[in-house]
Amino acid sequence: MNASEAAFPAVEIVHMIGFVLLVGTAALVDFRLLGWRLAHTPVWEIATDLAPWTTTGLVLVLITGPLLLATDPDRYYLATQFRFKMACLALALAFDFVVGRRVRTENTVATPSLQRFAGLVSLVLWSCVVLGGRAIGVLFVAK
Ligand code: HEM
Repeated sequence: MNASEAAFPAVEIVHMIGFVLLVGTAALVDFRLLGWRLAHTPVWEIATDLAPWTTTGLVLVLITGPLLLATDPDRYYLATQFRFKMACLALALAFDFVVGRRVRTENTVATPSLQRFAGLVSLVLWSCVVLGGRAIGVLFVAK
């Protein structure tokens, strides 16, 4: 990754496309769970339609993230921003696995208030991942 000048910006562009797909589609489902948008469409229908894009985004960030990390691992590991981002990413993925996927299924038993709660927590966690990522970018402007 450090051999070519163009490698880092090229990989970072793909990283950004990845998290826009992932966090953008996750936010759309969260807005629906919160009742803010798409109120006439069932949650499961929106989640099912968007799932291929969400998965593509996750795969892209999980491939490009470690590549970016590999350019200066010691510096990133020690950065609070990076640790905060990774902690929020782990929480966001765990919350989605335990709660998120249960409240957006067709036969969900979740009450509307639980759906709203799940949408809010998910939105806050993914926003923290993006904030942590941007904070890394700001910290390492030198690159
Ligand atoms: C959902 C998951 C992720 C999101 C939303 C995300 C978001 C971001 C954002 C917003 C940036 C800043 C881009 C900029 O404006 O300069 C960034 C940079 C970065 N991300 Fe991620 N990221 C994710 C996953 C990962 C993973 C899994 C890793 C590593 C294992 C990672 C490693 C990095 C690194 C090292 C940078 C810094 C690049 C620089 O120095 O500018 N990211 N990420």
